[in-house]
Amino acid sequence: LVTQPLISSPTISEPAKACWHVLGVGSLGSLWATRLAQAGHEVRLILRDAERLSAYQAAGGYLRLQQPQQQSCTDYALAAETPDTITSIQRLVVACKAYDVVSALKPLLSRLQGAEVLLLQNGLGSQQAVMEFLPHTRCLLVSSTEGAYRQQPFQVVHAGVGQNWLGDPLRPQQPPEWLKDLAQANIPHVWAENIMGRLWRKLAINCAINPLTVLLRCRNGVLLEHQSQWEPICLELQQLLSSAGHPESAHDLIPEVQQILQATQANYSSMYQDVKQARPTEITYLLGYACTEAQRLGLELPHLQRLHQQLQQELSALGLPSH
Ligand code: PAF
Repeated sequence: LVTQPLISSPTISEPAKACWHVLGVGSLGSLWATRLAQAGHEVRLILRDAERLSAYQAAGGYLRLQQPQQQSCTDYALAAETPDTITSIQRLVVACKAYDVVSALKPLLSRLQGAEVLLLQNGLGSQQAVMEFLPHTRCLLVSSTEGAYRQQPFQVVHAGVGQNWLGDPLRPQQPPEWLKDLAQANIPHVWAENIMGRLWRKLAINCAINPLTVLLRCRNGVLLEHQSQWEPICLELQQLLSSAGHPESAHDLIPEVQQILQATQANYSSMYQDVKQARPTEITYLLGYACTEAQRLGLELPHLQRLHQQLQQELSALGLPSH
């Protein structure tokens, strides 16, 4: 591996660039942090606590990024801090898991006055919880199809080129001026006026694929042989999306799921990987959210409900949280 340290010292004539804080230094958080730093932005990582900060420093005090199809890696010596640092935050990329997000934001509350926050969580439910927790902060929601995985702590492989849809359900027609920073940092993105529709569609795809890969203990591609199991789930999800006010996101779910299974046939789903590594899953924000919404809307969706119950039983049997 060839490693090169990042040198980012803007010349005097350049206007000062805004500082980006990144909370949650897993695969997606690292991907955002390193690309912003590469473009010359000041990036500060917010690590959970002093122990994690020491681990980062002991590992060299940098994030290592490997780009697709490249044998070489680049190291980014990024500043890191714990949540109790007192400086204010302008822009915050929140890339922790859906079940962690509100508790991770709590210690930052006093630093977030006037900040803008990007929420990269999977599923639905956690974004609404954050927006209630931060009623005076602009929250941008992100639906991402970028693929990345962590090889080791603080080392990430950018595995698949994808897209990030960003939007603000409260101000859908007001994209922030800093989208140009993302373009400059080669972070693919599209402003989505209908970000909730995007998030619902991704939730539906995750609900159709991920739980079955856990129950059948298989790679995504194996589900191509089990279409009779996920097809009725897709039909119910389409019903749910339409009733939840997103009929435009309900179309043609079956062919899209089929196409994703083909394109990712060698992969293990994110939920499968969580279970395999005995980590909590995001079930509450995927199937749990879908079933709660179905109930709220008075919909009978028996396949979806059965799948949720089976997954809960499986997770409980494995000693993992199931709601
Ligand atoms: O969660 C995942 O694993 C992915 O989003 C996808 C595409 C559903 C399957 O690998």
